[in-house]
Amino acid sequence: MRKVEPLVWKDNKLTLIDQRRIPHEENFLSFDTVEGVHSAIKDMVVRGAPLIGFTALFGMVVAVNTAKEFTFEELQKQGDYLKTARPTAVNLAYEVDRALELCAIEIKEGRIETLKNTLEKFAMAQMEKLHHDNLQMAKFAFEDLKERYGDKKLNLMTLCNTGFLACGPMGTALGVIEYAFQQGQVNHVYASETRPYLQGGRLTAYELTVSGIPHSVTVEGAFSYLLKNKLVDAIFIGADRIVENGDTANKVGSSTLAIVAKHYGVPFYTVAPTSTFDLNSKTGDDIEIEMRPEEEVLEAVGKRICPMESRALNPSFDVTDHRLLTGIVCEKGLIKDITPENVVKTVRP
Ligand code: MRU
Repeated sequence: MRKVEPLVWKDNKLTLIDQRRIPHEENFLSFDTVEGVHSAIKDMVVRGAPLIGFTALFGMVVAVNTAKEFTFEELQKQGDYLKTARPTAVNLAYEVDRALELCAIEIKEGRIETLKNTLEKFAMAQMEKLHHDNLQMAKFAFEDLKERYGDKKLNLMTLCNTGFLACGPMGTALGVIEYAFQQGQVNHVYASETRPYLQGGRLTAYELTVSGIPHSVTVEGAFSYLLKNKLVDAIFIGADRIVENGDTANKVGSSTLAIVAKHYGVPFYTVAPTSTFDLNSKTGDDIEIEMRPEEEVLEAVGKRICPMESRALNPSFDVTDHRLLTGIVCEKGLIKDITPENVVKTVRP
């Protein structure tokens, strides 16, 4: 197992590692049409809010490359189409909108010949920025851990997947864990397996293995057992959308974990770049939760596990109430007193 690049843009093609096949296979798929990029996001070849955003950004480069009719309206149509691939992770719309803003300027100024190169450079710079921002977030979170626990070797917990597969070189929540490990302060990590797609059991466990971090995979049903028995000192999760009052959408099960953490007094942090904030939405009630295919629940590793007559309900995300959070970490700081004013002041100073 090795630290692979989950997304590579080369020769006008977007190459993605097929995250559905990790850890058993390293299989790469290439896309050079907007439809292909859309399906890669929708069918979970690529997942995790930041990487979905970057994939869509390169989808816009593909749109420029393959445009038959070169107008802003046509590019906007392609951008709107890309945005429909998955509804909850706001990074998708955020990156497409940044690309469209840039296209509008370049087209207005008549710089059409160079538009593809300009967009490419912008997309690369956005990925580079996230790497820098992730390090900053890790430092903010680690400072808080130090204040709370001093030099104690910590047992940390996470859910879903927020490492290099979801973000590029360094992760958000998993970036914090990796940074704390590098500082010599991690004893053990618990990775919740994350039914039904097993992002924790397959992807986070893969990343922790690559980084040499001692870990155990647990089932979601073990949340209470772990926290009641004081096996965990702090929990870090990522986010798909954080709204103005701090309510946070993340992988389904996050809110359950936060409620159990509050009950047992375990610090619970969400870690996400400012591109994951949606300040146009006031509370978590405004967030659209993606419903995914029933088969993801009714089957496991391609085999039916439930009676043929059974139906399934498969919400992909849930919303954690901001009152359950110990802090929200973004590259601009750690928000501990979570109010709409403080969220806005931090994200858009
Ligand atoms: O359905 P997924 O795998 O795209 O869900 C991903 C998550 O919920 C992640 O925790 C979130 O996107 C943050 S990734 C840094």
